[in-house]
Amino acid sequence: MGGAVKVAVSGMLPIIGRRSADATYLAFSSRCQHEGCEVDLPNARGVILGPCHGSQYGGEGSLLRGPALSALPRYTVELQNSQLTLRL
Ligand code: FES
Repeated sequence: MGGAVKVAVSGMLPIIGRRSADATYLAFSSRCQHEGCEVDLPNARGVILGPCHGSQYGGEGSLLRGPALSALPRYTVELQNSQLTLRL
């Protein structure tokens, strides 16, 4: 899996964007689905940690371990003419 970045968005926590191993682009919220803390970028094992109470998410935002009860919400990313567009 490729690297990940946090993209600042006015009025909300940053969005995590990354390029997957199959060269598709993913974007999802950095707002933990437990109580709303900002999650970290994926670590060397590809795990996203919720630093406040220990939730863990997979590198594509899927829920691995609670206390959160759901995955990180996804956003649609479109690549057109070498430009990425994020739909919120
Ligand atoms: S806010 Fe993320 S684990 Fe509690």
